[in-house]
Amino acid sequence: MKRIAFHNREKETKEIMNILDSEPSLITFVYGPINSGKTTMISHLIKELPEEYAPFYVNLRGRFIADYEDFLNVLFEIDEEDGGGNVVEYAKLALKDIGAVSGIPIPINLFEKIFEKKDKSKDMFRYIEQFFVEVSKTRTPILIIDELQVIGDLKIDGFLIYKLFNFFIRLTKELHLAHVFVITSDSLFIEHVYSEAMLEGRCRYLLVDDFDRETTSTFLGEHGFTDDEGALAWECCGGKPVYLLELIRADNRGREIEKLHRMRAGELKTFLKTLKELGDKITVKEECYDISYENIVCALKMFPDEEEIDMWSIDEISKHYLVRNNILFLDPDRGIIKPQSRLNLLAIREVMSSA
Ligand SMILES: Nc1ncnc2c1ncn2[C@@H]1O[C@H](COP(=O)(O)OP(=O)(O)O)[C@@H](O)[C@H]1O
Ligand SMILES: [Mg+2]
Repeated sequence: MKRIAFHNREKETKEIMNILDSEPSLITFVYGPINSGKTTMISHLIKELPEEYAPFYVNLRGRFIADYEDFLNVLFEIDEEDGGGNVVEYAKLALKDIGAVSGIPIPINLFEKIFEKKDKSKDMFRYIEQFFVEVSKTRTPILIIDELQVIGDLKIDGFLIYKLFNFFIRLTKELHLAHVFVITSDSLFIEHVYSEAMLEGRCRYLLVDDFDRETTSTFLGEHGFTDDEGALAWECCGGKPVYLLELIRADNRGREIEKLHRMRAGELKTFLKTLKELGDKITVKEECYDISYENIVCALKMFPDEEEIDMWSIDEISKHYLVRNNILFLDPDRGIIKPQSRLNLLAIREVMSSA
């Protein structure tokens, strides 16, 4: 199989490097449509970071987290060796050979101690803070949590997410101890964060969108596309890296574009047919609502000429439903809603023209 090298995301990488250059003071929320390349960009950046930084990356994607035990197991990388008895000693040891860690290193004995405690979150945060204090004597710690929305609804003595937000504020704004990056593809989660009073003035937002036109054409050019082929690919598939990879790998590019289209339009038709005939419900803020097929169609019909619309122009229930089903993407920072991809936009236009 053709291996496709990482294509540089210069603008976004520069923005992150600027953030890393200054003292930690805000939480950074990295958001964007699904498959836009957020994880890929961060993973690449982690590998390229200068020695002076110590990144700790945790990905909650696909992890089933129902309680503290699950969460602690994902957050920490357990070191089976007894690490010298306390966090200060252990941090000194761990720092010597810190490689690409997935999670915050912790010796098993201290990990078990946290488990024994009634208020686990307090001890977990205390450990991380002390560990980062040690790390920060020689390097700048960076905590990166990917797909944090996975624990968005998790309630154990109150919502875990709020305790985490408080802790992140402490690490950044209060102690200036570590950089904190939260990554998510869930735009309803970002909308929630955006309207959260406790985070006001304590975070910033960084959009990692699909490639723009220029990046797409350079990327495809590097893989042997002519200008015309590149223009057609952009016109039909936009700049979503996963689709571009499909095109690069395809033997027949024209046929691949057609196939991607047929598939997307087919999926949307099935989705709407099922909704029309069987109906559906959605839970928003712990209340259950019926989905109105007519309202959904009405919302989707707003894209005949526009590529993006004002986020207040769709009713709340339809908005939640279409975003949750990955048809639309919501950007609260810019106040807009748009299809998750150009392929989705074209599928919406096609299906709506006969609805
Ligand atoms: N900069 C890039 N260069 C090359 N391929 C990329 C790039 N960004 C993303 N991709 C491809 O797109 C896929 C989806 O990207 P990913 O980072 O998982 O998206 P996200 O985390 O935003 O959902 C990746 O598996 C990778 O194959
Ligand atoms: Mg990702």
